Amino acid sequence: MNKIKINTARETGKISKYIYGQFAEHLGRCIYEGVWVGPDSDIPNKNGIRQDVVEALRAIKVPVIRWPGGCFADEYHWKDGVGPLENRKTIVNTHWGGVTETNYFGTHEFFELCEQVGAEAYINGNVGSGTVQEMQEWVEYMTMPGESPMANWRRENGREEPWNVKFFGVGNESWGCGGNMRPEYYADLYRRYQTYVRNYTSDRIYKIACGPNIDDYNWMDVVMKNAHQFMDGISLHHYSLTSNWENKGPATDFPEEEWFSLIKSANKMDELITKHSTIMDLYDPEERVGLIVDEWGSWLAVEPGTNPGFLYQQNTIRDAMVASLTLNIFHKHAGRVQMANIAQMVNVLQSMILTEGEKMIKTPTYYVFDLYKNHMDATRLDAIGETKETTSYTVSKQDQMVTASFCNYHLTEADEVELDLDCVVGTVWGEALIGETMDAHNNFENPEQIVKQAFDGVKVMDGKIFVTLPPKSVVSVYIEGK
Ligand code: AHR
Repeated sequence: MNKIKINTARETGKISKYIYGQFAEHLGRCIYEGVWVGPDSDIPNKNGIRQDVVEALRAIKVPVIRWPGGCFADEYHWKDGVGPLENRKTIVNTHWGGVTETNYFGTHEFFELCEQVGAEAYINGNVGSGTVQEMQEWVEYMTMPGESPMANWRRENGREEPWNVKFFGVGNESWGCGGNMRPEYYADLYRRYQTYVRNYTSDRIYKIACGPNIDDYNWMDVVMKNAHQFMDGISLHHYSLTSNWENKGPATDFPEEEWFSLIKSANKMDELITKHSTIMDLYDPEERVGLIVDEWGSWLAVEPGTNPGFLYQQNTIRDAMVASLTLNIFHKHAGRVQMANIAQMVNVLQSMILTEGEKMIKTPTYYVFDLYKNHMDATRLDAIGETKETTSYTVSKQDQMVTASFCNYHLTEADEVELDLDCVVGTVWGEALIGETMDAHNNFENPEQIVKQAFDGVKVMDGKIFVTLPPKSVVSVYIEGK
């Protein structure tokens, strides 16, 4: 029997709820179909936004949504997407499949989505192909309460009050699709562009610089050295792959070694955050600047027969493992990791939700976010002990409730764990997501093959808690202190 000691008095920092952020790009069927169906659609909608998706997202308390990209952000010209729908400019989404982009979903529609979901807005600005003036005017349009050309235009377009832009990204992947820049050049551009991301109210905008791809430690070093004093956060992108970018394994019906290779790739997040944080510490020892992991998740082969540019993939219990252990890693680094945004919210990469016409299903990853809700804005607790190597865990406290969440990615063996708390234990119960097979998933014919369920593997005896973690499972145990 393995034992984990939990010291409820030793609080090791707050887990920001923004770690549970989402990312929604104009890519494939994420925005169009996944979120926006238009006011005339037969699919139940409010102001064009489908309500089944909103309801599902509200249920997991999505705290923030990043938009409009991704690579799309550096080709997005926001003025194309405001004003009457019929007057909006139709463009080509050159990055993602060369499809027509109607611009029907623009700034007003994005904030409508955020309001319906109850999420904050994380806007990603265009540095790659946009001007400083364009970025400055977008911020003015969104946030200026008084009289000004952009604020007046916003009012003409139907919105009196300014919106709150909580987070603003200055460029995306500027080392790649966002302009193929060198870090020295980007650092200077960042300094220039961010100057005009002005605060028109007392709600300060949290400014995010474009950070490195995976293990590009030089990018982190150069941008931090030259611009750390002008930023609140710097991004990091790391996707989990089964082998490499050229050979993406299938999302379902995969061989056993790809179960482990994907998980290994996800686990690399710990090393990446540790090393990037060490560099950040050189310039920012107080941990003022956040490491913003605004793209993460499994990147697998697209579903057979779908547009390769749409990045539509299925989602299984293996992806739930990736989500769970990555969230555990973020919790461990909660001092630096102030926000993360899984890629992406609907119909793209490691999604929460998949849609087909009027149908909608929740993925195993969705249920992990559901099982982890209690960790949002909770206090991380010191927990130490033995588990199998294939078990990852995290513990936090909110009010008098301790939540311990586990991921057992062993394919066949359960892990028996005793939780040893330094307080009198009250009511204890659990919930779980358990994969019968390695690629257990939901589809439109069978939408509830794998769902969150009540967990019967937790017992209290003589004030001690014993948990049996089934193989291929994510489990949350809730412990009320007395
Ligand atoms: O999430 C898909 C793409 O991955 C994003 O557009 C880009 O930023 C990254 O390369």
